[in-house]
Amino acid sequence: MTRDERRAALEQIANEVRACTACRLHEGRTRAVPGEGDPDTEVVFVGEGPGFNEDREGRPFVGRAGGLLVGLLGSIGWQRDDVFITNVVKCRPPDNRDPEPDEIAACAPFLRRQLEALDPAVVVTLGRYSMGTFMPGARIGQVHGTTTPADPATGARDALVFAMYHPAAALRTPALERDSLDDIARVPAVLQRSRDRRAGTPQPGGDAPGGSPIADHVPTPAAPPAAASAPVPPVESPAHPDDASQLTLF
Ligand code: URA
Repeated sequence: MTRDERRAALEQIANEVRACTACRLHEGRTRAVPGEGDPDTEVVFVGEGPGFNEDREGRPFVGRAGGLLVGLLGSIGWQRDDVFITNVVKCRPPDNRDPEPDEIAACAPFLRRQLEALDPAVVVTLGRYSMGTFMPGARIGQVHGTTTPADPATGARDALVFAMYHPAAALRTPALERDSLDDIARVPAVLQRSRDRRAGTPQPGGDAPGGSPIADHVPTPAAPPAAASAPVPPVESPAHPDDASQLTLF
């Protein structure tokens, strides 16, 4: 898919999300929240569903949880515009309740199509409901900070999935905020590993495509804190053949 085709596909999905009446969540929404970000990114963050502020603005993660997410990204030298941010459900559940299984199922084709268009190298799940989409049966307390290869049926045809706590949970519990800082520090290494994997470079853990299968939930070593480490120059292999812009690894 060319860059223009990718943009057009994402815009088409966003328009369909805004018009969607497939589940009861459309009844209470002010604005649907399709997701936003760099259409040429290699990294997609998937949250749970819009909250009060997101419903008003039609944009993901613009409230307090979004503030923490931006802070976490900043701790590795990234900005929210460098990545794509979306949710499992695109309309706000009433009173911020958890999304119901039938609501997640009704919205799933939108997320799958977004991932097909973006073809990310890394999918970062935020919270239990997002994790459940990509790591069925896993427990967040056990798998946060670990990777597993994405099931291509999710739409992410050749990606590593990396699980994190939901920023709202991290806001409530200082220990989870510390874990989240540790976890996000691992994401640049996960991105590099996925780039190598997609390029067919043999992996120490044997997870190159066609090689021996990667063990589920592989822990990834944390990079040193951004401030303490010398920046590594941008990696030259573009994720998308027609895309020269790159996330810089720190
Ligand atoms: N929480 C989410 O899961 N997604 C948002 O967009 C905002 C808060």
